[in-house]
Amino acid sequence: MTDSTPPAALPRGELAVRTIAMPADTNANGDIFGGWVMSQMDLAGGIAGVERAQGRVVTVKVDAMTFIAPMRVGDVLEIYSQVESIGRTSMKIHLEAWAQRFRTHRRDKVTDATFTFVAVGDDGRPRPIPPEIR
Ligand SMILES: CC(C)(COP(=O)(O)OP(=O)(O)OC[C@H]1O[C@@H](n2cnc3c(N)ncnc32)[C@H](O)[C@@H]1OP(=O)(O)O)[C@@H](O)C(=O)NCCC(=O)NCCS
Repeated sequence: MTDSTPPAALPRGELAVRTIAMPADTNANGDIFGGWVMSQMDLAGGIAGVERAQGRVVTVKVDAMTFIAPMRVGDVLEIYSQVESIGRTSMKIHLEAWAQRFRTHRRDKVTDATFTFVAVGDDGRPRPIPPEIR
């Protein structure tokens, strides 16, 4: 832990997922798959969505994503989530992916996106999102 460079910005939202990028998550070039990062964001959004909707949710939309920094083997991936807005049955959740660099405290933002989740019942059909429990 030698790198003391402060991050340019701080993550927005609540830490929802923290995991390590492993060799199994790499492509043939040895770089971490963007799709792996996206799937972790989907998981993090699902956690926030299920909590807010108090039950099952499905992902219906992901807005445009730009990868602004690479993720490397050994980096710790952190996903932060924040519920942005609530509709009748859908909600928008802002997700940020940050890489805590291998053996340092340095964090770089990898990407962010807004995911839309829909609360569904046992039949898979949309159901109204209940009032928030505080
Ligand atoms: C999500 C799903 C249940 C919505 O069914 P639907 O018949 O389109 O339902 P509705 O038209 O009543 O829309 C329900 C809500 O979803 C929103 N929605 C539907 N399609 C959307 C889209 N493409 N983008 C953003 N929001 C969308 C609607 O705006 C509505 O929100 P609101 O109630 O807050 O106003 C259905 O599209 C579905 O099952 N999709 C597959 C989801 C899934 O399996 N995801 C994982 C893929 S591996």
